[in-house]
Amino acid sequence: MTLRSESPALDLRGISKAFYGVKANDDVDFELRQGEVHALLGENGAGKSTLCSIIAGLYRPDTGTMHVYGEPAHFRSPKDAFAAGIGMVYQHFRLVNNLTVAENMVLGNADLRMRYSDVDIERQTHEIGNRYGLPVDPQARIWQLSVGEQQRVEILKQLQRNARILILDEPTAVLTPQESDQLFRTVRQMADEGRAVILVSHKLHEIKQVSDRVTVLRHGRRVGEPVATADATPRELAAMMVGHDLVLPTRDPNEHLGDVVLSIQDLRVRNDRGLEAVRGVSLDVRRGEIVGIAGVAGNGQRELAYAIAGLRRPVAGTIALDGVDITGTSVTSRIARGIGYVPQNRLGMGLAPGLTTEENLGLKAYRKPPFSRGPFLVPKTFKDVGAQLIDEYDIRGVRPGLPIRLLSGGNLQKALIAREVTQQHSVLVARSPTRGLDVGATGAVRNLLLRERDGGVGVLLISEDLDELLALSDRLLVLFEGRIVGELTSDEADPARLGLLMAGHVEETA
Ligand SMILES: Nc1ncnc2c1ncn2[C@@H]1O[C@H](COP(=O)(O)OP(=O)(O)O)[C@@H](O)[C@H]1O
Ligand SMILES: [Mg+2]
Repeated sequence: MTLRSESPALDLRGISKAFYGVKANDDVDFELRQGEVHALLGENGAGKSTLCSIIAGLYRPDTGTMHVYGEPAHFRSPKDAFAAGIGMVYQHFRLVNNLTVAENMVLGNADLRMRYSDVDIERQTHEIGNRYGLPVDPQARIWQLSVGEQQRVEILKQLQRNARILILDEPTAVLTPQESDQLFRTVRQMADEGRAVILVSHKLHEIKQVSDRVTVLRHGRRVGEPVATADATPRELAAMMVGHDLVLPTRDPNEHLGDVVLSIQDLRVRNDRGLEAVRGVSLDVRRGEIVGIAGVAGNGQRELAYAIAGLRRPVAGTIALDGVDITGTSVTSRIARGIGYVPQNRLGMGLAPGLTTEENLGLKAYRKPPFSRGPFLVPKTFKDVGAQLIDEYDIRGVRPGLPIRLLSGGNLQKALIAREVTQQHSVLVARSPTRGLDVGATGAVRNLLLRERDGGVGVLLISEDLDELLALSDRLLVLFEGRIVGELTSDEADPARLGLLMAGHVEETA
């Protein structure tokens, strides 16, 4: 690798890119120095992925210039960018599932495939993996790997090709905290070797932990000048990102709790493989409270949520709503009785990807007036109610006729929640409602949940995000291996104690 040039690794000036008239990047300047980790920070929809995709040759900018190590660059494809030493790890991996790790390493690179035997590639994969703290079995097939390991393969692929500029687009969204820490050590190592790394994130603590400088994007434009990470507080960065300081409403201590609205007794639910994932859970949720369910993923959260929403029949136990046993009832009847569900996978379950935002907003209510009159749907009502919700919940990026799947993650989630909370509810079950969202969208979603609670709804918040649970829950239950292993009220719930319970350190109880 020759890195003697004094020029920055990247120098972008006046980059603009519009999609269907929406400016995803608007006159953006961006400089990446050799040997630095440069964080790209911004809310969902701010234009981060677009900028990265331009650098990686996937999109061509409408205007602007780009220099790579001082040389003008006009990429027509990712191959051109790659030839200039630029490698990108996308948010959605591009691996072939039924090929092995080693086979994926050489995929799309005829040169490597010609030069090396399978055994060579396996050995190299192993070596690079060890050198960078990203070990992975070269003979494993991609489908056998965890998401974190698949991401390693993507990174190793770029290292194998000796990318000098590495772009990681929200790499930690799919990682555990331990995997993220390891990734950051790798990122630092790559920068120390003289590579330049762009790290896209909206998690401020990560940016503080690993980056040298930060460029903030908002609504497609760069906010201010790039800042040295060491000089910026998380609060300042958050303010740059959302354009104002964030405040969460706090609870009026005089607010009284209502009656028990959701009561679960000794519930047992199986997972997809037929094993018992919920193993005797009992809990009550009262009107006007948020009960948080903390736990590491895979301890029965999914099955618990499914059972309450009516998506999976429990093998034992009861679920009662306002004292009425609803254990055997259908999803539709639960919706009619006032159970709202905000799922984790927004497009998979919650929304119809091909319909417009307005249509999606009307989906659950369509059987009732004013959406339908007799057997007919009333399009105008869809439009009016939709427009009102879009405005009220600040859902951005909506354009006439545009399928909802083209909205960014944060806006999808706001649409989903807007639709859920406009129904009359007794109970709202929310699973990781802010996962993958930026600070601004997270604040909006949290406010919606608090508003529901203050309006007398019983909220069950199932989340792996401790900050979120601590910020919202009136009471916290810890789920471990399908059982509730601890209960804490929010003033006694310090993260350390919670973390121990989540890791299975069941407390001695008197
Ligand atoms: N391929 C595309 N087609 C249409 N609109 C797009 C496309 N890619 C991005 N956008 C829009 O451009 C804006 C910026 O998106 P993106 O760069 O993905 O933001 P970020 O990565 O910061 O969340 C959003 O409004 C998004 O909806
Ligand atoms: Mg993105």
